[in-house]
Parts: sequence; C-alpha cells; structure tokens
Amino acid sequence: MELIRTVKAMQARADARRRAGQTLALIPTMGALHAGHLALIEAARAHGDHLTVSVFVNPTQFGPGEDFDQYPRRLEQDMKALEDLGGVDVVFAPSVEEMYPGGQDRQRVWVDVEQLDAHLCGRYRPGHFKGVVTVVAKLFLSCKPHAAVFGLKDAQQFVILRRLSRDLLFGVEVVGVPTVREPDGLALSSRNVYLSPAQRAQAVVLSQAVTAARRLVEQGEQRVEGLVQTMLNVMGQAPDAHVQYAEVVDVETLQPLDRIAPGQDVLAAVAVFFGKTRLIDNAFVRAPGGGV
Ligand code: PAF
Repeated sequence: MELIRTVKAMQARADARRRAGQTLALIPTMGALHAGHLALIEAARAHGDHLTVSVFVNPTQFGPGEDFDQYPRRLEQDMKALEDLGGVDVVFAPSVEEMYPGGQDRQRVWVDVEQLDAHLCGRYRPGHFKGVVTVVAKLFLSCKPHAAVFGLKDAQQFVILRRLSRDLLFGVEVVGVPTVREPDGLALSSRNVYLSPAQRAQAVVLSQAVTAARRLVEQGEQRVEGLVQTMLNVMGQAPDAHVQYAEVVDVETLQPLDRIAPGQDVLAAVAVFFGKTRLIDNAFVRAPGGGV
C-alpha cells in the first residue's frame, strides 16, 4: 500500500494503472476510519481492481462554528486499519495547500449545486454541498477513478454526487453502500465519538424514527404529515435530542412531499443535535403499488 501526498503523483499513478488496463475505484473519506468505511472498501472491490482510499478533511464543507478544528485526524491509525484490511493499493492524503493552492480563500472557481441542496442538510448548512462537490470533483480529477463509492448514510450527498458525475460528464460510476449500524441501530459515524454515554444511549432514536417511517410507507401510508409526526414522536422520547429536521422527500429531486404516490421512491431523513454533536440518519423506501 502506497501513501501518496501530491496531486501530480496521484495522477501519474492513476494514468499508469489505466494504461495497464486496470479499473480504478476510489473511496473518498475524511479519515477517522470506522467499520462503515471498511464496508465501503469491501464494496469497492466489485467495482475496481485498483483501490484508492482518499483521506482529506475538507475545510470548505465545514461552516463557521462547525467542527473542522476538532474533526478527528489520525492518518497513522487509518493506515494501519487499511493495512490490516488488505487490498488497498493507494492512500491519497493531500494537504490543504495541495487541494487548495494558495489557500481556500483564494479559490475563485467552484462547482455549485442547484435545488438539490435546498432541503434536508443543505438547508441548514449553507455552502456545505458546494464544498463537497468541489472537493469531490478535485478528487475525481486527481485519482481518475472509473467508480467511486459513498455511504448511503449521507443520502443527500450521494444523490448530489451522482448528479455531479452525470451533469459534469465525469463518467464516474457513483456507487452507494448501505449504512453500517451498531447492534442497537445507531448508524456508524466518525462523530459518534463526541457523544457522552447518556447521549449515546439516546441516539438510537434516529434509526428508530426512520425505521418507523419506512415501515409505515411499506404498509401503504401516503400522508407525509403523519410520517413526519411519527418520526418526531419517536425522537421526542430522547430528552437530550434537539431535532433539526424530519423530512420525507423524493429520492431524485430531494423535494419534500405532501403525499407519496404509489410506487414512488422516497427518503425519510432526520438530523438531530445532542449537545453540539449533529447526527443524521435516513431510510430509502419504495411505496407499494404503482404497477410493474
Ligand atoms: O462523506 C465524506 O466523508 C465527505 O463528505 C467526502 C465525500 C469525503 C468529501 O469530503
């Protein structure tokens, strides 16, 4: 496994592998790797025979007052976990200067997102998805993958990055991998380490809320107001949970719905603060009916 620090060296490596006829898969991460990331890497094996894991805590996707400075950085530990897992060819871990030459404040050209960031997390994190799509575009241009693998826990990010590849003609296959969960249902996240034991115990309400919504949709519930209320009721059982949103949206447009149509694919999603720690969870679900 090779550690590559510069864009130029990464591009040279990707070009050489492509010339040798290999299929390249990229697993973009911000490090602090956990079992959820390892599942992404396992899934990536089906999409490429040369695997690159990028580790880069991207400053431009953190808003003012968010946890950029505190975000866990532990490249040595991450490298060890990847060595133990095996089968990763390259870790691409550039510096901020490498990805934003001259500093992020000097960058004048960005990739922007229309409409898809108006709801869910985008509504509360202005500029977040602009930072995400811009850095992922840079990662695509550096690592030149045929496929890139992302967790479906970040559902809005996944939907937007699929459009990034399609709308800007990157031609990268954007693959989504189901969320990995603790035994009680809590979605794995690098931010779970911030939770106190009491908050950790209560955090199970996120998965309970989206599971309750998913079951109701599967049973034929079409009225979104009732689904949202159910999610709020479930999360209301956690005294320290401050709900930021509970929404049911269309999976392609990410527009909130009043009523779910038969056969429609929807996303039930929640974001909750425990103290300063913000957690998200979601469930993708297809409504029954709608023909074949
Ligand atoms: O999901 C993440 O870890 C990040 O948003 C990503 C895709 C690596 C971009 O910085």
